[in-house]
Amino acid sequence: MKFFLDSANLQELRAAAAWGILDGVTTNPSLIAKEGVPVEEQVRRICDLIDGDVSAEVLSLSTQEMIAEGRSLAKIHKNVVVKIPLIAEGVQAIHALAKEGIRVNVTLCFSAAQALVAAKAGAYMVSPFVGRVDDLGLSGVEMVRDILTIYRNYGFQTQVLAASCRGPRHVIEVAKAGAHIVTLPFKVLEQMFCHPLTEKGLEQFLSDHRKAFDLVTA
Ligand code: E4P
Repeated sequence: MKFFLDSANLQELRAAAAWGILDGVTTNPSLIAKEGVPVEEQVRRICDLIDGDVSAEVLSLSTQEMIAEGRSLAKIHKNVVVKIPLIAEGVQAIHALAKEGIRVNVTLCFSAAQALVAAKAGAYMVSPFVGRVDDLGLSGVEMVRDILTIYRNYGFQTQVLAASCRGPRHVIEVAKAGAHIVTLPFKVLEQMFCHPLTEKGLEQFLSDHRKAFDLVTA
């Protein structure tokens, strides 16, 4: 399973990359806006830092503008994956960009039906928003499971990137379902390996060792 960081913050990206468990990055207009840097510039900086897929989202809403913006985002770096929202105008843009060999991450996916359309249009990845579906009182994990079943049934190559994950529980559930990629906010990535019992156990081991060592050398 690939781990992506859901962040446009260079400090967070550097820290996650240093752990050696980062395979790529997803950004969205809200995340880039937080950094206060123009989209193209920030995407370039991220690509210089991380060797893996970096998703960058179009801001346009018409098909032709999405295609033009997608082309120019893809030119920033070979690792850029163009994010297109799953709206009617987007479907045509996904198809056109995919035909040109531009990799598309179809974003704002909230149902298996939308994911099926994304795959038919030629998406490289689809991003079902697990946490936001849970917020509606439905199951985001169930949606991911359905998408994977449908893709397997028909041999679609589109990768399922579980997005909007709120904690390690979501990650484990989508991993059990077989999601190809999960994108995580920095805090959730940290939560994946921090455990209070690990801290407590380590403290105990070191204290036992110190006591025994002190006895031998006393
Ligand atoms: C995915 O690519 C999105 O940027 C992201 O996962 C959305 O997460 P949120 O629902 O926590 O904003």
